[in-house]
Parts: sequence; C-alpha cells; structure tokens
Amino acid sequence: MTPPVEEVRKRSASDYVFGKVLGEGSFSTVYLAKDVHTNKEYAIKVLKKVHIIREKKTEYVMREKEVLMLLGSSCQYFVRLYWTFQDAERLYFVLTYAKNGELLKQIDKHQCFNIECTRYYAAELVLALEYLHSKGIVHRDLKPENVLFDENWHILITDFGSAKIVKENTEKCDNETESDTTFHKRRNSFVGTAQFVSPEMLTDTSSSYASDLWALGCIIYQIVSGLMPFRGPSEYLIFQKILNLDYVYPEGFDKTAKDLVEKLLVIVPNKRLGATDVKPYTSIREHELFIGLNWDNLGPPPRIS
Ligand code: ADE
Repeated sequence: MTPPVEEVRKRSASDYVFGKVLGEGSFSTVYLAKDVHTNKEYAIKVLKKVHIIREKKTEYVMREKEVLMLLGSSCQYFVRLYWTFQDAERLYFVLTYAKNGELLKQIDKHQCFNIECTRYYAAELVLALEYLHSKGIVHRDLKPENVLFDENWHILITDFGSAKIVKENTEKCDNETESDTTFHKRRNSFVGTAQFVSPEMLTDTSSSYASDLWALGCIIYQIVSGLMPFRGPSEYLIFQKILNLDYVYPEGFDKTAKDLVEKLLVIVPNKRLGATDVKPYTSIREHELFIGLNWDNLGPPPRIS
C-alpha cells in the first residue's frame, strides 16, 4: 500500500514554527516546534554541521539516528524519531515532544518520590531497558535529565548520542558466546555523565548492557533520596568514589529500595542483578520492591509525591 503523500514528502524547517528551547546539549539544541500543517507539537533537535565536524562528533550523530530508527515506534517508553532533514548549516531530528519534561525537574520539585512512585517508575525503567537491550542497544548515558514524561506521565527515554549498538539483532550468531554479546570488548573514549558512569567505563572503558543497570541503580537511589549516590566537588573525586563503591544511604532510605540499589550498584558488571538473566530482567522483576506488580499492565501512573 502506498503511504499518503504527506507521510513521504521530504520535510524542511519551513514545515514547522519553532518555539521555546526545551533543552541544550553540547552539540545540539532541542526546540518545541509546531507542524504548520497539522498543528501537532514536536521536539526538534537541531545540530550545527560545522560544530559537529569541528568536534569530530559525526559518528555520534549518525549513531543516534541509527538507534532511534532501530527503536521505531514499537515501545512506548522511548521518544520516537518522526523525520530527519537538513539544510546547508544544520541537521534536524523531529522527535516526540515530552509534554511533562524531565524526571530531574520532578525530583527537584518533589525532593524525592514516595515508595509507590519509586516502584512504578523503576518498573517502567526496567521494561524500557528490557526492550532496549533486546534490540542490542546500550544507552550509556541514562540519567534523570534523559528520562522525560509524556502527557500521561509515562516515561520517555531520550538522548541516544552516547548509545552503542552491541549487536544488530536479537538472534545470536552460532559462533557468538554469551560474553561476546554481553560485553563490548572494543575500547572507547569516555562517554556518559560523571555521576552515573559505571566503574567499567572508567577502568577499561568497555560498556555492556550492565552499564545501564548501574545507571538504573543510581536513578532509583536518586528518586528515593533526592540525592545522587556518588557526589563530589570534581569529576576526579566522583570517579574515585564510583571506583571504590564509596557511597552511603541517608537515614530513612526505604529498606526494600535499598536492597535493590545495593544489588545494582555492584562493581563487577556481571554480578549486577539481572546481568546474567537468561530472560532479562526476570530477577529484577522478582525483587521484593515489585511484589504485587502486574508487569503486563502497570496501570496508570500514581501522582508524583
Ligand atoms: N528536552 C529534550 N528533549 C525533549 C523532548 N523530546 N521533549 C521535551 N523536552 C525535551
């Protein structure tokens, strides 16, 4: 069947009215934009070509597009890439507009989440990671700024500029061993954000699906306490703390959430809860924090408090 003309027509910046800045990264600016034909709102990520070339970030930009295309629209927990286009100076990624902004903003607003909200959003993150990893993608920069909320307060994970594609599809090749698919052996330069970076990315800079499980542990810690687990006055001191697993739980930190975080913040990637699950992430789903939760239908999100 031929798609409607409107769906195949090449877009350009003149198809949108650009509004406020939603976010700014080192190589891009995200704008709220309205499609002049449909009035539908999008978030458009704009990247300056000279800047990308000068900073040698072409590979990252191409990777982000590739990952977003791999993700498509089949999982509700990721921003969707609708179209890309370019003009002489810029590249444009037309993305889902997450109306309710960043998880970080909600943590700042509420200080911390109660245990019901923690359970719910931790579960959405687990489902999102199950899907992402089943597609052979490691995010590598999961943090509360990259977890957005849609109009119904479901999560939308964004920013795949640091992501890595570990394997092209979910089928394992005959000559591929378990550790080949779990760990990426190639050395890479540092990616990610200091406070959420996993120890293996600091030592041998190899990343794996388990690097996202470490970040999950950091995020759960932060939504429960309002604080990041590894804090310090400089990146160097934060890295030292991460490598020494030097963190403490504030008084009153929920006991069950603490048990889960402790099982995710483990130095050896393969020892993190879920890392060696035959069916990811059964052992996380079975954790006490999630008792009574219907994983096939989490239901509507609780009001954040
Ligand atoms: N900030 C960065 N990306 C965004 C998006 N897709 N929606 C809303 N705010 C954003």
